Amino acid sequence: MNLNLKGKSVLVTGASKGIGKAIAEAFAAEGSRVALNARNADDLAKVVDEINHNGGEAIAVAADVTDAHDVELMVSEVVSRFGTIHVLVNNAGGVGQFARFEELTDEDWLSVMNLNLFSAVRVTRAVLPHLRRQKWGRIINISSESGTQPDAEMPHYNASKAAMNNLTKSLSKSYALEGILVNTVSPAFIMTPLVSEMLDKQAKAQGIDPADAEKQFLATKRPHIELHRSGTPEEVAEEVAEIERVLKAAGSIGCRVSNSADASFRILAVLGKALEVLDDPLAVHLRWRSYRIGCPAGGAQENRA
Ligand SMILES: NC(=O)c1ccc[n+]([C@@H]2O[C@H](COP(=O)([O-])OP(=O)(O)OC[C@H]3O[C@@H](n4cnc5c(N)ncnc54)[C@H](OP(=O)(O)O)[C@@H]3O)[C@@H](O)[C@H]2O)c1
Repeated sequence: MNLNLKGKSVLVTGASKGIGKAIAEAFAAEGSRVALNARNADDLAKVVDEINHNGGEAIAVAADVTDAHDVELMVSEVVSRFGTIHVLVNNAGGVGQFARFEELTDEDWLSVMNLNLFSAVRVTRAVLPHLRRQKWGRIINISSESGTQPDAEMPHYNASKAAMNNLTKSLSKSYALEGILVNTVSPAFIMTPLVSEMLDKQAKAQGIDPADAEKQFLATKRPHIELHRSGTPEEVAEEVAEIERVLKAAGSIGCRVSNSADASFRILAVLGKALEVLDDPLAVHLRWRSYRIGCPAGGAQENRA
C-alpha cells in the first residue's frame, strides 16, 4: 500500500518490543528509513537486523529517553545517518506499578511522568528544529485510552497520558501552519510484553492461568471491547502508519468540529476508521478502532455527542 512514506526518515522510541517494534516494522515495510530506539542495545540489534534482512532500512539508536543528554545524542545520530527526521513516533512508555492512588509515592509519580510525558517533551524538543527547517513533519504520540477513560488503578499513568493528549493539542495548534501535524494514537488493550508481564503477575497472585487472567481482565476492566480479545501491536502499527492517508482524508472532507470540553470529541468514520476530530481540522486524534475493538464504559459512545 502506498502511504506516502517511502524515503521518509522516521524515529520510533521504545521500538525493541511491543507496539514500538510493530510501528517501526510497518514504516520499514512502507519504504521509510527507520531509526529504532530503546535502552537495551542487544534487543534493538535483533530487531534492526531482522528489518534490514527483510529488505528494509533501519538503524539502532540506543538511548534512555528519560535522560536529556542521551536524547540529544540520539537525535544527532539519526540526523547524521539519515540527513533529517520527518516523522517522530513518541512511543516509549510504561505503567510503573499497577497500584491504587494511596499506594503511590511522589517518586512513583515523577518516574511515570518522566517516562511517559517528559520523554515526549524532550524528544520533540530535539527533533522539532529539523521539522521546522523542512516545513514538514509528523509527530505521533502513543497515548492510551486511559488518558480519556481512566481506570481506578494507575492514576499516575492515566494522568501522564491525559497530559500527553493535552500537550499534543497544544503542539498541533502551534505548528500546524508550518506543516507539522501532531497527533495521538490511543491504544486500548494490546498484547505486548508490558501487558503479558502484568497478566502473568495477576495470574501468579491468584494461582490461575495467564489466559484466564486475560479473560478476567477483559470481563471486569474492558467489558466494552466488543471483540472480547486484546489487540495486537501490528493492529496499532497499521493505524499509525496510515496516519498520512487518514490526515489527507480528514482534510479533504473538511472536518471542522467545534468542541468545548476535552471529552467532547466528535467521532467520524472516514475510510472505515473511527476518528476523533478535535477543534482544529489538522489535529486528528485517532482512537484505536473505538468501534471495532471498543473502549471502556462511556468511551466512544459518550464522546459521540
Ligand atoms: N500495551 C497496551 O495495552 C498499551 C495500551 C495503551 C497504551 N500503550 C502505550 O504504548 C506504548 C508502548 O507500550 P508497549 O505495551 O509496547 O510496551 P513494552 O512492551 O513494555 O515495550 C516498551 C518499549 O519501550 C522501551 N523503553 C522503555 N523505557 C525506555 C526508556 N526509558 N528509554 C527508551 N526506551 C524505553 C523498551 O525497551 P528497553 O526496556 O530496552 O528500553 C521497549 O522497547 C507505551 O507508551 C504504552 O503506554 C500500551
